[in-house]
Amino acid sequence: MEKGTLIGGLLVVVLLGICVVSSVEAAGGNFQQGGPGRAPQPTYGLNFYRKSCPAAENIITSAAIKKWNTDKTITAGLLRMFFHDCFVTGCDASLLILSTPGNQAEIEAGPNLTIHGQDLINTIKTQLEAACPGVVSCADIIALAIREVVLLAGGPFINFPTGRRDGVVSQASAVNLPGPSITVSQAIAAFQSIGLNVNDLVTLLGAHTVGVAHCVFFSDRLYNFQGTGRPDPTIAPSLLKSLKAQCPQSATGALGNPVALDQGTPFRVDTSYFQQLGLNHGILQLDQELTHDRRTSGLVRSFTPSQGRRTGFSGGQWGPSFARSMVKLGNVGVLTGNKGQIRHTCGAINQCQIGRKSAGHRQSSANL
Ligand code: HEM
Repeated sequence: MEKGTLIGGLLVVVLLGICVVSSVEAAGGNFQQGGPGRAPQPTYGLNFYRKSCPAAENIITSAAIKKWNTDKTITAGLLRMFFHDCFVTGCDASLLILSTPGNQAEIEAGPNLTIHGQDLINTIKTQLEAACPGVVSCADIIALAIREVVLLAGGPFINFPTGRRDGVVSQASAVNLPGPSITVSQAIAAFQSIGLNVNDLVTLLGAHTVGVAHCVFFSDRLYNFQGTGRPDPTIAPSLLKSLKAQCPQSATGALGNPVALDQGTPFRVDTSYFQQLGLNHGILQLDQELTHDRRTSGLVRSFTPSQGRRTGFSGGQWGPSFARSMVKLGNVGVLTGNKGQIRHTCGAINQCQIGRKSAGHRQSSANL
């Protein structure tokens, strides 16, 4: 082998090593050394991009408003996207990574097949890469876009800290999301596994105040509840009739029709979902079960508009509680500092920069 080729080969091996190590490096808490004589830089907190990309929040807000004006389903799409992302390997936008030959990504796992809203996140990412290349993570774009669309739909202001970085792993086989027919005990345990409590569970299921469930997720309740050959006795008779019409037993097709999860105000982020549960109008089995379990029924009642103590937000304490629990959900498994990377496009992990002369990007070594 020629000397030049050998040296070149060794260089590639060394650089590859640096590339791999730097992308999985551990971060030192929520602060990072700022260099000799300089104060440590915060790595996660409110308004994280104030200096590094002052236009970031405005860019995200404008794009979210534009989208919401033409597509009201975006609120539901992003809320569910966030839960599905955060529950599996933390809030690192790993859900947005597309499959590659040899890797089936999270997005292709069964529960994720109806995830939507990626178009908005990708549009925002393109705008941010033009304004501040390599600075704003896809994980933060999801959180900040949710903040906007929830507000537009009548919900509370969610004061998300930012500084999340993007994950570098996404595997369909890692998706362990809870299903809609689990018991309340199983749901409590699932939430505990990511550091959320029973109050967070009931509060966050209130996100079902918007959006839809396809027949496949609840048709057992209409025709053969728990193998009895009969409907779930807890469904209100009028709702049962209407759901059977929307989800005929003879229907073919994988998912069936979409049915509003909140039969009252399906596009508003409000407490109508809890009111509907009180009328036995829950669509998913777990939603309705919340009213039957003593650990959760009191919370459902306290979040119901007519019985909750009114605050500034219509319908008791749910609004502020939802904002708090969303922040908690948004803190799950967050990558900060030098962990992970800032993806250039949300659908793909950054390629190592070997061989590139200049991508024109401001980039740290941890950002390879
Ligand atoms: C144990 C917990 C949960 C279970 C079992 C569950 C289950 C489901 C199921 C089966 C659907 C229907 C999906 C479809 O037909 O496409 C759904 C929809 C939805 N879920 Fe959940 N969910 C849970 C928690 C959450 C949380 C914590 C959030 C957000 C904070 C959330 C937000 C949503 C939204 C907004 C929709 C409507 C999506 C759309 O219209 O595109 N869910 N959920």
